[in-house]
Amino acid sequence: MKGLMLTIAAVMLLQLAQAADKKAAPDGKALFQAKCASCHGKDAKGSPAMAKMFKLENGELNLVGLKIADEDLTKIIKGGKNKMPKFQEKLSDPETAALIGYIKSIGAPKKEGK
Ligand code: HEC
Repeated sequence: MKGLMLTIAAVMLLQLAQAADKKAAPDGKALFQAKCASCHGKDAKGSPAMAKMFKLENGELNLVGLKIADEDLTKIIKGGKNKMPKFQEKLSDPETAALIGYIKSIGAPKKEGK
């Protein structure tokens, strides 16, 4: 009986590992270029043309050096913010997480070690 349970557990773990492998870590940088750069700029420093269109200061589209908690970033990406559209239906959770990782990587103060 114990052996059977262990076998079942092993098979389930294997399946889980395979499922995780299939949608292996999305590329945050590539996602950013595809979904966000049009407004936030290829370098994430903002796009003056888009800022003008939105009647914002370009700094408001700059995402470099943002100090926003992951949970709040998730909320903004999923739910939008003012003139920013929501991405809830357009991005999976792992994709959202990868984007947050990318945004942190371009802006996080070094000492946060993320
Ligand atoms: C259609 C244009 C547009 C696209 C595409 C877009 N954004 Fe935005 N985003 C905005 C605007 C406009 C704001 C400023 C909202 C405000 O503060 O009024 C904003 C704000 C933000 C903020 C908050 C910045 C701050 O200082 O509070 C984050 C974070 C953000 N966007 C991330 C993203 C990510 C990640 C993507 C890609 C999934 C993305 N945006 C795609 C227009 C866009």
